[in-house]
Amino acid sequence: MSAQHGDLEHDSVCLENTTLWGRYSAESIPTKSDVSLPASIIASATQGKKVNNILDLGCGVGRFLLDLLDHIPVQEALGVDINVEAIDLAQKSTNNKDIHFKVGDVLEMECDTKYDLVTLQLMLSVVDDRVRLLQNAKNNMIPGGVLYLSASGVSSDINPKYKDLYERDFKLTGEMHTYYSRDPTTNEILYKTHHFTEEELDSLLKEQGFVNIKIHKIKETSSRRKEEQAYFLYASANKKND
Ligand SMILES: C[S@@+](CC[C@H](N)C(=O)[O-])C[C@H]1O[C@@H](n2cnc3c(N)ncnc32)[C@H](O)[C@@H]1O
Repeated sequence: MSAQHGDLEHDSVCLENTTLWGRYSAESIPTKSDVSLPASIIASATQGKKVNNILDLGCGVGRFLLDLLDHIPVQEALGVDINVEAIDLAQKSTNNKDIHFKVGDVLEMECDTKYDLVTLQLMLSVVDDRVRLLQNAKNNMIPGGVLYLSASGVSSDINPKYKDLYERDFKLTGEMHTYYSRDPTTNEILYKTHHFTEEELDSLLKEQGFVNIKIHKIKETSSRRKEEQAYFLYASANKKND
């Protein structure tokens, strides 16, 4: 922790991820532009069955959901995010009356509708309570419904900078592979993020009662630092049929 930014960082370390995301600049929210891999993973998980509706938890500015809808035409879609500015931008990006965006904490909310498909793009890594997020995703799904998610993968073996980050912040976060993502100029903490091993993600999904879990590990670049190599995990699973 630098002396210059010591107070700022100390304050940020005390803040929960939900608070940090609520004040994040919407246009800088990390995202991925290509939805072809998620779309093909979802197509294989739905096994040709029609998807009537989609719930996107932590939708950011809505780009992922809107692009996904070009591949998966549905009757209704809802995106939810804690960031008011992001939801405002998302709402302005579409005139389709069957696509809705709303501000909400995905760890708390419960929808009136149950969804055929729930998506968590780059979400599971950046919430403090992963169990609650997955339980809430499951509660909002129909029995047999599909969960799609992507998350950061442990990348120390392909990029030593991640090894350093994991080791540096372990004493602050108390969890290996969890570190604070920081602004490169000010060193201010932006959010806390966790990188998963495949085994860890598989166990977490099993423990929350998901079945038919499939995980793909892909070498890409960091969603915020495009010059850095990193693994991403893409997963699909089903909620059990009653
Ligand atoms: C890494 S970004 C991914 C955004 C989007 N899924 C995408 O891929 O473009 C994580 C998003 O989760 C949102 N978020 C984090 N915690 C949240 C919470 N508790 N409730 C709702 N949204 C949350 C953030 O505001 C941010 O938009």
